[in-house]
Amino acid sequence: MKQLNILVLHGPNLNLLGTREPETYGSQTLANINDELLTLGKSLAAEVSNYQSNHEGELIDRLHQAKRDGVDGIIINPAAYTHTSIALRDALLSIDIPFIEVHLSNVHQRESFRHQSFLSDVASGIITGFGNTSYTLALRGLITQLQN
Ligand code: DQA
Repeated sequence: MKQLNILVLHGPNLNLLGTREPETYGSQTLANINDELLTLGKSLAAEVSNYQSNHEGELIDRLHQAKRDGVDGIIINPAAYTHTSIALRDALLSIDIPFIEVHLSNVHQRESFRHQSFLSDVASGIITGFGNTSYTLALRGLITQLQN
């Protein structure tokens, strides 16, 4: 089976996971989440890399880089850019790599401005509300999609 190359992108404020609103986002740090994904990836024949930025343009540049690197699939928690960024949507459309939109919290249980996503209708899948398990579910789902 071909080794898959997966990129996990984390948007603004997710560098603060562990201390940021733990009642909403849990107590796991971003480093814990990335480690877990790396280990799970290895067991599923996928090479997982990750990147976090608080800056919209840097996330877009990293997506363009993913195209040049031949990345097979993307897991993205766009954080607040989910609800605001047409630029991120356009970047994802322009690189044409399947992606899963992930949220730790159930955005549909929260404020109405979080119910809108500029990405969901062009995502291969959406996982929201499982805390850090959202990411591992996304990785399993994305790998299954890519292998089929
Ligand atoms: C989030 C939900 C967003 O609404 C919020 O802006 C975030 C995190 C989540 O993972 O639950 O920063 O994407």
